[in-house]
Amino acid sequence: MPPSAEGRATAVLLSNWAGTHTLPATGLYPHQWSWDSAFIAMGLRHVSPRRAGQELDALFAGQWSDGRLPQIIFDPHRDKDYSPGSQFWQSSTIPGAPGTVETAGLVQPPNHAWAVWMVHRADPEESARRDFLSRAYPQLLAWHEYLRTRRDRGGLGLVSVVHPWESGTDNSPLWDEALARVPDTPRHVVERPDLQHACASERPSDREYGRYFWLAERYRDHACDDVDAGYPFLFEDPLFNTLYAVSELALAAIARQLGADPAPHHSRAAEISRALATLYCPEIECYGARDVVTGEIVAKATINGILPLLAPDIAHADELVSTLCGPRFLGDGALLPPSYDATAPDLDPSLYWRGPAWFNMAWLAALALGARGEKQAAEALRSMLVRLAVANDFPEYVGPWSGTPHGTRRFSWTAALALEAQANTGWDLLG
Ligand code: SER
Repeated sequence: MPPSAEGRATAVLLSNWAGTHTLPATGLYPHQWSWDSAFIAMGLRHVSPRRAGQELDALFAGQWSDGRLPQIIFDPHRDKDYSPGSQFWQSSTIPGAPGTVETAGLVQPPNHAWAVWMVHRADPEESARRDFLSRAYPQLLAWHEYLRTRRDRGGLGLVSVVHPWESGTDNSPLWDEALARVPDTPRHVVERPDLQHACASERPSDREYGRYFWLAERYRDHACDDVDAGYPFLFEDPLFNTLYAVSELALAAIARQLGADPAPHHSRAAEISRALATLYCPEIECYGARDVVTGEIVAKATINGILPLLAPDIAHADELVSTLCGPRFLGDGALLPPSYDATAPDLDPSLYWRGPAWFNMAWLAALALGARGEKQAAEALRSMLVRLAVANDFPEYVGPWSGTPHGTRRFSWTAALALEAQANTGWDLLG
């Protein structure tokens, strides 16, 4: 990246800094988001390891007593700018939620231990000065314990998401059939401030929002307690569980550094990988997502189902590499991998998680290819990611074949992962 471009990525992160954390985007996403913050910290560590650590500290300040790290920590001054906000969740009235900040009750994919370890590696002395690892480790243990004990709703050793927002891939085609069973008539009036910052044709529909709010209301009204027997949306998402496995490997590294026993984390990561293998769909040579309510595995090829390539000793790795490099993803001249099967008739290259290429997924796919020895393809993806990010003012997502920018601009994780990709730290996941 030419120095001016590196400066531009840094400028995005600096201008989105809100004092204790980085906004994903100042208009569309005006609070602190959980997995965004972890991706942001991974890039911010190249600019300021101290600030990257503060980013994660701010997120950990929102931890619930049951261990969950919430999807969003709300900025009370921006409540009218995003919906559903703190007035919807009323989290401080829910037992176990923090009293000091207002948060959502849902969670997001667990990339946090991975981010903590990467931030530590960027400047071990600064990390030691701030007791960063020893403060983060117990909080990360509690977070993973919450996922292991409260979220294995299917009983098969995988975490279930309870809402499309929890997957981070809100309107992925993986959820369509299950969402069709969910009423689109919440009690809460559905507001769409997001449409002031991105085209309606690039965002989930009002009908989908009706269902998202209905589910969130049901979860909230059950005190977010994860024991609602008739709850209609439970999914084992391959990407969420992959990040969970990678983060267990990071916990092993953190434990070793702190003089604790890494072995239980290695065993746990291996267990998650083995459980993930039950999601493999031979007919698409890709992992699917299990609908825990029906027991069916949704056999649609999505980037979520390719990224188990990152999980340790994952089964069917050769098939996943060949699917990623084949016509469903990169094979048809895609600049970056689409979020959804390029051969699917309902692919939409500009609609959020139903086709566009996202920079976090491209970065993860590059790492997966690099770690599997496909260095040339990995390098190509990494440099394309940087080029498209910089050329388009760090868009939220792009058309996979055209590179046309979509969604919001000056999007923090795009800038952060461009910095991380450019730093070229090799292909070791924990490097
Ligand atoms: N992705 C969600 C949104 O668009 C939040 O997690 O608001």
